Amino acid sequence: MQSNYFLSQLLFASYIYDQPEGTPHYLDREGYEATRRRLDKLVVVPKPLEDFLPETKGIDAFFLSNVFDWMSPPLRTRMCELVVGAAGKGARILHRNMLSANALPRFFTERFVRNDDLSADVMDLERSMMYRRISVGDLS
Ligand SMILES: C[S@@+](CC[C@H](N)C(=O)[O-])C[C@H]1O[C@@H](n2cnc3c(N)ncnc32)[C@H](O)[C@@H]1O
Repeated sequence: MQSNYFLSQLLFASYIYDQPEGTPHYLDREGYEATRRRLDKLVVVPKPLEDFLPETKGIDAFFLSNVFDWMSPPLRTRMCELVVGAAGKGARILHRNMLSANALPRFFTERFVRNDDLSADVMDLERSMMYRRISVGDLS
C-alpha cells in the first residue's frame, strides 16, 4: 500500500504524502517542480482526436491509454489511420488496454513495431492492477 499511490487513492481517496512512493511522481517535490518548469510546453486541445489529428503532422509520441477500448471497430480503424497520418518519422506509440485488448487493423500492426522488453518494463510500473496489456513501440 505504501508504494502504491493508485491503491491508496482508490481505497481512501488520498495519496500517502509522507512516503517516497506515496504519490505520483509529478506530485512529489522534485516532480512537481519539474512539471511547473515545463508547463509552458503543455497545450491542451479540447477537441476529439478525429478533429485534431487530421490537421496535425510530425507527432513524436502518442499515449493512448484506455482509449481504443471504448471505440467501435470502425472508429478504431479510423483512429489508427489518423495516428499514422499525423505521426512523425519513427514516432513512438504507447497503447494500453483495460477492458479489452481488441486487435488493431492490419495496416497499423504491420507498421507498429512492438518493443516487447520495453512494454514489459512499463507493465511492471503499472500499479492500478486493472490494465491487461500495455504495448510500446515505434511506427516504421
Ligand atoms: C477511459 S478514459 C482513460 C483515461 C486515461 N487515459 C487512463 O488511461 O486512465 C478514456 C479517455 O479517452 C478519451 N477519448 C475517447 N475517445 C476519444 C476521442 N475520439 N477523441 C479524444 N479523446 C477520446 C476520453 O475523453 C477519456 O478521457
